[in-house]
Amino acid sequence: MQTSLFPSSSVEKISPLVKWAGGKRNLLKVYKKLFPKRFNNYHEPFLGSGAVFFFLKPQKAVLIDKNEELINFYEVVRDHPLELMELISTYKVDKDFYYRIRELEPKNLSKIERAARFLYLNKTAYNGLWRVNSKGKFNVPFGRYKKVKFFDRENLLKASKLLKNAVLLCSDFEEVVKYAQKGDFVYLDPPYYPLSETANFRNYTSEGFSKEDHLRVYKVFKTLTEKGCFVMLSNSNSPFIRELFKDFVITEVFANRFINSKADGRKPIIELVIRNYE
Ligand SMILES: C[S@@+](CC[C@H](N)C(=O)[O-])C[C@H]1O[C@@H](n2cnc3c(N)ncnc32)[C@H](O)[C@@H]1O
Repeated sequence: MQTSLFPSSSVEKISPLVKWAGGKRNLLKVYKKLFPKRFNNYHEPFLGSGAVFFFLKPQKAVLIDKNEELINFYEVVRDHPLELMELISTYKVDKDFYYRIRELEPKNLSKIERAARFLYLNKTAYNGLWRVNSKGKFNVPFGRYKKVKFFDRENLLKASKLLKNAVLLCSDFEEVVKYAQKGDFVYLDPPYYPLSETANFRNYTSEGFSKEDHLRVYKVFKTLTEKGCFVMLSNSNSPFIRELFKDFVITEVFANRFINSKADGRKPIIELVIRNYE
């Protein structure tokens, strides 16, 4: 069955369940005009908060991310939403409790406890950032929030239902090539190529994301194009990315985020959307 973009994306709104660096929630209004109007299956190999997936609400999807905690979380939302909501509702928002949860070794927990830990840290850590060190250990300090809403019940249940149509994989984005077929839509949102040495956040996983990884993204983009998929990629407005993708359709979009929080530097920034279709 084909997913057609309208009107399905406008009914029954589902919001992302987690805050995520580089999340595309604020760009959906602009992106809406850039998605293909119709497609078969949907693939999102850099899932993060899944802003685009939850917006499109596809009939069938393959969702990939290298972050094990994130993928386990979505599996639990799909398979055990009630147990997850029940458990996290017992968690307290204070500094001691935060560091106790942070210190837990995810591999020693049950799937549901692990998902609750992930959601808890996502909502109570400073800036809602998921950042790990080179050993893969979550290292964000307590966010000093007084009150935190861990979930919206209706929304989480709708997300759970939608995820039942999805294959979830914790793996490298290149896996997408095995699943995507002619007529499918693939949205690629890798950690952005840095505009300067220190500019961009890339520590979603312990490995980071290198220039070679961006060259692999390009190879995947080409392979999917040859297969007859609709492919859309988000990345920074950098000369390297522009040159690499010069044979494709490049659209500049104004991102609703700011370069820095200092008043004098608050300028919206241009990002690129690159597609293999008009
Ligand atoms: C820019 S974020 C995606 C944001 C997402 N579009 C959203 O709206 O929240 C990039 C994601 O890529 C994931 N990632 C990093 N390296 C990866 C790899 N080699 N393969 C698959 N996913 C990877 C990160 O864990 C992160 O969730």
